[in-house]
Amino acid sequence: MGKHFAAVATGHAYNAHTDRPAMLALAGDVTGQRVLDLGCGAGHYAAELLRMGAEQVVGVEGSETLLRAAHERLGDRAILHHHDLEEPLVFLKDQSFDLAVMALVYHHIDARGQLLAELRRVLRADGTLIVSTTHPTSEWTFFGGSYFAHERVELPIGEGFAINYWRMTLEQFLSELLAAGFVLERLVEPRATEAARLVDPRRFDKTHSQPSFLAVKLRCP
Ligand SMILES: C[S@@+](CC[C@H](N)C(=O)[O-])C[C@H]1O[C@@H](n2cnc3c(N)ncnc32)[C@H](O)[C@@H]1O
Repeated sequence: MGKHFAAVATGHAYNAHTDRPAMLALAGDVTGQRVLDLGCGAGHYAAELLRMGAEQVVGVEGSETLLRAAHERLGDRAILHHHDLEEPLVFLKDQSFDLAVMALVYHHIDARGQLLAELRRVLRADGTLIVSTTHPTSEWTFFGGSYFAHERVELPIGEGFAINYWRMTLEQFLSELLAAGFVLERLVEPRATEAARLVDPRRFDKTHSQPSFLAVKLRCP
């Protein structure tokens, strides 16, 4: 599964051309910033953030396979930790980051309240958190049942793989972030960039007619 994601995320219409450009636009100018990349996967975000001028990127990842791919991509340009995000971030100091990035990871986590409290701790006052997730209406369209269902689901992604995560409403997603004390600055429903039209016209069209992802920018007060 890790190898599959590491291979496809580089040029995939959803990862490379929908989620990443939207989230990196939300990140804004990261020059000189200390950035925490939670669930950093194969290091695609970390590489971009360093290219954009971040002073330091610290990645946290639970999959050894993906962490290896991140090491291969980043060498010693980023600090990478093998860690389960269900557990507190005990190895990170209070108020040590300007920006935390959580791209397509939040919905995998059970202990989301604990993780958000840890993010409040490690982000400096006025720091930024950006989070992307699957769009609640896309879950509803795919899995059916009640839009208001809050349950773990399994999404087949082809080649014998499936991903398991929480399906939640927009209300649930935002309420959890706001209850942790973050302040919402922006919400976007990312659509694929023009580059995806060539890579994968079907998925390009899909993201322009049915929202697939949701991304938010929040401020630590
Ligand atoms: C869809 S991938 C996104 C990876 C990366 N953020 C990106 O967008 O390229 C989800 C990532 O979350 C990681 N993940 C899921 N649950 C985790 C957990 N409990 N602890 C650490 N990492 C986790 C997975 O291993 C995977 O790398």
